[in-house]
This record gives sequence, structure tokens and C-alpha cells, in this order.
Amino acid sequence: MSRLIPRELIPITLWDEKQALMKLPSQLVSIWKVLLEKNGLLDKAITQAPEGFEGGRSKEDTDNHFAWRFSGSSARVILTILDPKQDLYEISDVFTQFFSGNRIFLADLPCGSGAASLSILSVYCELRTQGLIPREPLEVVIVGGELSEFAQSYARDGLSNLIVELEKQAIFIEFEIMDWDVCDPFSNAELIKCLTLKSQGCSAKVLMLANFSGFLQKENKWVDASKQIDELFRHNLGESSIALWIEPKRNDVTKSGGFMQRLLVWFKKKFSSISSIDAKSYESSVEVCHPLIDGVFRSNLTVVRFDLPQRKQ
Ligand SMILES: C[S@@+](CC[C@H](N)C(=O)[O-])C[C@H]1O[C@@H](n2cnc3c(N)ncnc32)[C@H](O)[C@@H]1O
Repeated sequence: MSRLIPRELIPITLWDEKQALMKLPSQLVSIWKVLLEKNGLLDKAITQAPEGFEGGRSKEDTDNHFAWRFSGSSARVILTILDPKQDLYEISDVFTQFFSGNRIFLADLPCGSGAASLSILSVYCELRTQGLIPREPLEVVIVGGELSEFAQSYARDGLSNLIVELEKQAIFIEFEIMDWDVCDPFSNAELIKCLTLKSQGCSAKVLMLANFSGFLQKENKWVDASKQIDELFRHNLGESSIALWIEPKRNDVTKSGGFMQRLLVWFKKKFSSISSIDAKSYESSVEVCHPLIDGVFRSNLTVVRFDLPQRKQ
């Protein structure tokens, strides 16, 4: 397994080895701050978040999630990419493979306010800024799908605001954020059409599903949603196609019979005839420097990699 960046080369701007402390890239923090200020959410973002809300369709749910959970969502994605504790054995080379092309495709589902896409791009941008990765021109095509129109708008603004920083590092993005309801087969069909079209000519494809268990599990929506997720996976089979599913390491997610186990059983049942790789989940956790106040927070994650090879004829 090759890593995008060896542990000892992770720059101090992202990982402080002495203090075992991860940092969010400055590019990400500055666009988050700009959007918080613009939307009157900065004061909220520096207050303690209450436990146990998930985000949702309304403006209030979206704003709460953006203020209180955006940094946590981002930290999980960044931890998956950097893996400073070397816990995520089979996950490490996903990003190495992904960034080895010159035109690559990322589906961010549900994209919320864009935490996953913005984090991946910001980390890669920072690694180039620090001279750790050659500045070959790279085109990244992103399609996000999301139920909340307010979150869609934050994701569009965030990506637009990152363009200048990315272009300084020869990273060129093209993005489309779509209205998507995972429980609605018609909306899913529209999303799949867009993914198929936009991923043409891309040498690698990653479907990133992050922080969806709250909705799928707590509201017991898995039965409705799994048919659409089946379709998404089936329509995205291909030699260099990978899905990554990242969730917080909560007891209801990781326990026996919890969300991750259910996901693995589902994948085995639906895709074992084409994928010889026995998907399994990995866990990691790290302290993260809080980007807005003096302090740290803990980021815990569990992640599964699903390889989506094409069926042999
Ligand atoms: C916990 S947030 C995670 C968002 C993003 N992946 C992240 O890591 O920040 C869950 C998102 O799922 C969205 N969502 C809820 N129900 C949905 C549905 N039926 N279809 C698509 N998205 C949905 C919510 O609007 C919310 O933005």
C-alpha cells in the first residue's frame, strides 16, 4: 500500500508530530471563516455544540451543522487522507491512486456544506504549496448531491471561494452541486445521469459517502435508501472506481449489528459476485487543533473502502 504522503513527510502545517496534533489546512479554515462571517454564524461556531443533532433540510439545521459540525466532518476526511497514526491500512492508497491522474472525478454524497470536497482539495493544495507534490496540472471534477438547498449553497460558495488558491497550485476544478434525495428513485436517476456524464474522460473515480449514518440509521431510512445506494454503486463500476464510506466512530455505528456491519453485509450480498475484495472497516482517532478557538477536539472515525471493479465478461 502506498501512501499519498509518508507519515514523516506530513508538513507541520497539517500534523504536529511532537504534540500528536492534527491541524486543518489554512485554505479550508479561511474559506469556512469567511462563510461563517458572511452568514452571521461565527459567534455560534465558537460556542459549545449541543450533543446529538444531525443536520437536515431546514435553514436552522443546516446553519447549526455548518457552525458546529463542519470542522469535525472535515477533520475525519483529513484524518483519512493523512492517516498520521498509520491505522488505515487499505485506505491509504485510495488517495495516491486518485491523485495520480490528470483528470479525476469525485462524487460527494451527501455533500452537506461541502466539507469532504473542500477538505480533500485543501489538503492536496497544501501539500503542493509545501513542495511535497509536483505541481503538474490537475483537473478535478466534483459532483455533490444534497437534500438541503441551504447546504447546497454553502458548498457552492465554499468551492467557488477556493478556486483562486487551487489555481495557484495548478489545480483546476469543475463542480456541480445537485438537489438529491437518496430515498427518491427519480432524483437518484438524475444524479446518476450527471455522474456518468461528468466522469467521462476521468482516469479515477471516488464516491465519497460521509456522515450519513445518522440519517440512514436513526430515522430508519436504510430500507428506502439502500435501493438507491445499490444503483449508485452499480452505475459507478469501473477499473479505477472506489467508494469510501466515512462515519464517526460512535457506538451505534461500530457495535456488532451497528451501521458499519450492516453496510458490510449489504455490500457482500449485493456485490460479492464482482468484487473479490472482502471490504472491512478501519478505525482511527486523533486530537485536532480547534481552528477558531484556543483548544483541541477529538476526531474519531470508522471508514470502509469498497472497490467497484467491472464485472468480468
Ligand atoms: C451529517 S450531514 C453530513 C454532510 C457531509 N457529508 C459532511 O460530512 O459534512 C448529513 C447530510 O445529509 C443530508 N440529508 C439528509 N437526508 C437526506 C436525503 N434523504 N437525501 C440526501 N441528503 C440527505 C442533510 O441535509 C445533511 O446535509
